[in-house]
This record gives sequence, structure tokens and C-alpha cells, in this order.
Amino acid sequence: MIDPHGRVVMLSGATGGIGAAITRRLSEDGFRLSLGVRNIDEAREAFPGFEADGGLICRFEAGEADTAKAWVDATAARFGQIDVLINNAGILRQVFFDEGDEDLLDELWTVNVKAPFRLIRHALPHLSETGGGRIINVGSTDAKRYRAGVSVGYAMSKHALMAMSHAAKAAGWEHGVRVTALCPGAVDTPMIQSIPGVTPVDERIQPTDLAEIVAFLLGLPNNASVPELVVNTRLESGL
Ligand SMILES: NC(=O)c1ccc[n+]([C@@H]2O[C@H](COP(=O)([O-])OP(=O)(O)OC[C@H]3O[C@@H](n4cnc5c(N)ncnc54)[C@H](OP(=O)(O)O)[C@@H]3O)[C@@H](O)[C@H]2O)c1
Repeated sequence: MIDPHGRVVMLSGATGGIGAAITRRLSEDGFRLSLGVRNIDEAREAFPGFEADGGLICRFEAGEADTAKAWVDATAARFGQIDVLINNAGILRQVFFDEGDEDLLDELWTVNVKAPFRLIRHALPHLSETGGGRIINVGSTDAKRYRAGVSVGYAMSKHALMAMSHAAKAAGWEHGVRVTALCPGAVDTPMIQSIPGVTPVDERIQPTDLAEIVAFLLGLPNNASVPELVVNTRLESGL
């Protein structure tokens, strides 16, 4: 497994349910972290001592294009390299053919698709330089199939993220960049608290388990590429 020490990780949505678990796990493992968050004060409160220990916290707002490049540039300037990009920030909005207006669809596209695209675009030259760059896009089982009752808009955005993952894999392959679409079912975070029909709390995936999977993926060498990794809570054909 590749030694985490010294490797630089950019992580979006670091103060959310899954992002916070990944932040804690990768910090413990010895990665150097650059967190992209909307609210810097909230991140400082969530991770006391993080900056004193050498971590970087930058403002990243998916709806503001400039913040993606500024975050990538600030990370490269601080650490001199970028080894990993984790596109974790995401939203769920309820959009069906008979419910939810198009503004919500635009919001889903902005946060779940355009922002990761932009970050990959800006970070790829840095990831390629290391010869062993990694991208993890946090997708969903909703990136793999359509299940009745799930927001059509959310499923569409996560399918788009899946296409982007495979495209990024192709773009970075020759330079050693490996890309994984990590596709969990229901995870016990604020995102799904009030969604009808969702997996009961005691059957959900724990964010710490996903963090463990991320740490495992980042340890794999270039010749053990994992393009998609599904983590399900339900019995489903093929998933
Ligand atoms: N929970 C699940 O069941 C589940 C299942 C499959 C996949 N996922 C995916 O996992 C990822 C993390 O979700 P989570 O469950 O941890 O949800 P969460 O607790 O709601 O966290 C979402 C994160 O995304 C950030 N974010 C939202 N809008 C943003 C914007 N406009 N610009 C920048 N950052 C923004 C949030 O920042 P703020 O803290 O500032 O709001 C937060 O840090 C998402 O991509 C989600 O689609 C979740």
C-alpha cells in the first residue's frame, strides 16, 4: 500500500457528514489535507487545531466558479503538489416529472456536476505531475440505476458524475492518475434525514465506514485501479 505520509489531499464538503469522517480519518493517517468548505469558521470549529497542525482550509462554493481555481491554486502554492482530489460536496433536491421546479435541477447540476468538473479540470495537471494522482468522486447507488421514489434530478446528476469519473480516468491514465466513483447507498448523515422512504437509521452506512474505504482506495498502487465501488445497504440485483 502507498504510504499516506506527505501526500496532499483536496476534499470538498469537508464539514458535512461524510466529509468530516474522511477529514478525521485521513488526518489520523498522516495525509496533508486541504479542505474546501463554504464556511471557514465552521470548519475551524469542527476541526480544532487543524491549521496549527499544517492543514489548509479554503473557501469553496460550488456556485462560484472562481473559488474552484482559487482553492486548487492555494493548495498547490502551500504544499507544492496535489496528490488526491476528493469530490465529496453534494446536494439532494427533490425533482420529479410532476414535482420540483427547474431551479432545483439547475442547483443539482451546479453542485453535483459542474463543480466537480471544474475541480478536476484545474487539479488534473497537478495530479498528473505526481505520477500517482487519485480522484475519488462520491457518487451514489443512484449513479448506477434508477430506483422508484428517488429524485429524478438527483439520479440524473449522479449519473453525470459517473460519466465524468470514467472520462477523468481516461484523461489521466497515462500519467498515473486513477479515478474511483464511490457509490454508497443510504449513509447516516443530515442529507437524508427527512427523505421519504429512505433506509431506516439503524440500517444505514456509517460515515466512518466510508472513510475507511477512502483510506483503503488511496493506498492502492497504480496497477490496482478501482473505477467504481458500490457500497449498498439493500439487496438489489447487480448492486
Ligand atoms: N447521505 C447519503 O445517504 C448519501 C448517499 C450516497 C451519496 N451521498 C453523497 O455523499 C456526498 C456527501 O454527502 P453527505 O451525506 O455527507 O451530506 P451532507 O452532510 O449534507 O454534506 C454535504 C456537503 O456538501 C457541501 N455543499 C453543499 N452545497 C455546496 C455548495 N454549493 N458548495 C460547496 N459545498 C457544498 C456541504 O457544505 P455545507 O456544510 O456548507 O452545507 C456539506 O459539507 C454528497 O455528494 C452526496 O450526494 C450521500
